[in-house]
Amino acid sequence: MVVDPAADVVWESVGAIITAEGTEEIFPKNDGEWATVRNSALVLAESGNLLMLGERAKGEGPWMIMSQALVKAGRIAFEAAEAKDEDAIFMVGGDIYSACETCHVLYWYDEDGAIPSTGSATPAATTSSILPETVRASTQ
Ligand code: HEC
Repeated sequence: MVVDPAADVVWESVGAIITAEGTEEIFPKNDGEWATVRNSALVLAESGNLLMLGERAKGEGPWMIMSQALVKAGRIAFEAAEAKDEDAIFMVGGDIYSACETCHVLYWYDEDGAIPSTGSATPAATTSSILPETVRASTQ
């Protein structure tokens, strides 16, 4: 699924690493890096669209709402990257994450919130960056 690397790019593009020496701010440093974020935001929006098509779509209810939420968040992230607005990227990262995770809870994870062992899945999205960890901790 292309959505996962694309989401990682957006999530990891802004933030801060706090160490004993101080805080290192993370943000895209040049036009090329901003372009990478912008492209990934587009991929996310497009993934939301694809989730609504054909056999992938599961009914008219929450699935469609979560897919649309991903489209919307991807577009906001795209505009934020165009404007080089670090704060906006950071904020929309949370929206992206909740669209992903709300859908996974409803349609993928089992009742205990675990990933079904039959799947090939590794939950890379939930372990790979500071922001999702924070959001996950607060939703459990
Ligand atoms: C509309 C529902 C929906 C949305 C939104 C959604 N997912 Fe998923 N995702 C699923 C379902 C269902 C599965 C498990 C079955 C499958 O792999 O198709 C899954 C599986 C995955 C997997 C495992 C894939 C694999 O091949 O094993 C990853 C990684 C993933 N999603 C990441 C994300 C990320 C990151 C986002 C948000 C940017 C996201 N998903 C948004 C429904 C969704």
